[in-house]
Amino acid sequence: MSKNIMDYETVALSEDGRGILIIDQTLLPGRTEIIRLETAKEIWEAIYLLKVRGAPAIGVTAAFGIYILARQIAEACGEKVEFQPFYEKFSQQKDYLNSSRPTAVNLSWALNRMDRVCVQAHENGKAVDEILEILEGEAKEIKEEDIRVCKAIGEYGLSLVKPGDGILTHCNAGQLATCKYGTATAPIYLGQEKGYHFRVFADETRPLLQGARLTAYELSSAGVDVTLICDNMSAMVMRNGWVNAVFVGCDRVAANGDVANKIGTSVVATVARRYGVPFYVCAPTSTIDMATPTGNEIRIEQRPAEEVTEMWYKERMAPKDIKIFNPAFDVTDNELITAIITEHGIARAPYGESLATLFRDRQ
Ligand code: MRU
Repeated sequence: MSKNIMDYETVALSEDGRGILIIDQTLLPGRTEIIRLETAKEIWEAIYLLKVRGAPAIGVTAAFGIYILARQIAEACGEKVEFQPFYEKFSQQKDYLNSSRPTAVNLSWALNRMDRVCVQAHENGKAVDEILEILEGEAKEIKEEDIRVCKAIGEYGLSLVKPGDGILTHCNAGQLATCKYGTATAPIYLGQEKGYHFRVFADETRPLLQGARLTAYELSSAGVDVTLICDNMSAMVMRNGWVNAVFVGCDRVAANGDVANKIGTSVVATVARRYGVPFYVCAPTSTIDMATPTGNEIRIEQRPAEEVTEMWYKERMAPKDIKIFNPAFDVTDNELITAIITEHGIARAPYGESLATLFRDRQ
């Protein structure tokens, strides 16, 4: 029997600890291929080209990435490895990986966490070979934490819906974007285990079709009742009364609760408000960036024009030389968001206060 996509690990450290194994998501759903990343360039490109994508999965890849690169740096230093030259190269590689995509804060969050652990270990008198072990442990912990966090988000999310509900989601904030459960899909998977029989609508998500290629694929593989719709159909399904709640993921939440997520998310939020459908953002605290005051300060990634004009088509579908605007993300204003669901609880407006309290209570 062939393996189900849900049985694969999105991101894993290879057994020899020298490579990262990822599902090449650009080939899904047609082909399931596991690829191995070893060099800084391979890791950078896999993130930039969306072979591995989704904020939490990018964070985990970066954590494993900087660990395997740290190992290579130490090996290149020879017998007796001094911390300073090792750390200089470590920092360079960290900056390089961090430049692969700008919007998902999990990338810098994971790299900074690995950096802190490295420096702390050195300050505690550890030698470089011991630091490598600590880095390996930390990267594995970031991955395990992601699974626990997604499950907790799923439990909180599930408390907001009831059996038989219609749920709409945009992009892929599913298992493929994380290490298990997903964020926006976690309530759906946990509900599925309890026999809730949700009816899910997945937006196809132009231009890279994460909804069609990934969300519709993983949900249907898991046996969830899912209907694929084009992005411009969400108003119709909501007007028809088929949607009781929207769940989406996010790439960066600002301190005031503005949310950057896949392009088109703010349209869904606006339509949901028009039809009185609650709009929930599922956000691990690793995606909440209290250092960014509002959505205006979030850097939005711009992607190549060919994604709009040529990709997925047999021939170009737009006039030659036409001007193209292709932002990968948009910002949903906090007033359109019914609640932000984190692993520590559900935050509601005013988000400036509720998010700050959530972080304060954790310390
Ligand atoms: O460009 P992508 O595919 O990386 O964008 C992904 C999204 O926008 C997801 O919704 C977000 O990262 C949350 S994943 C749990």
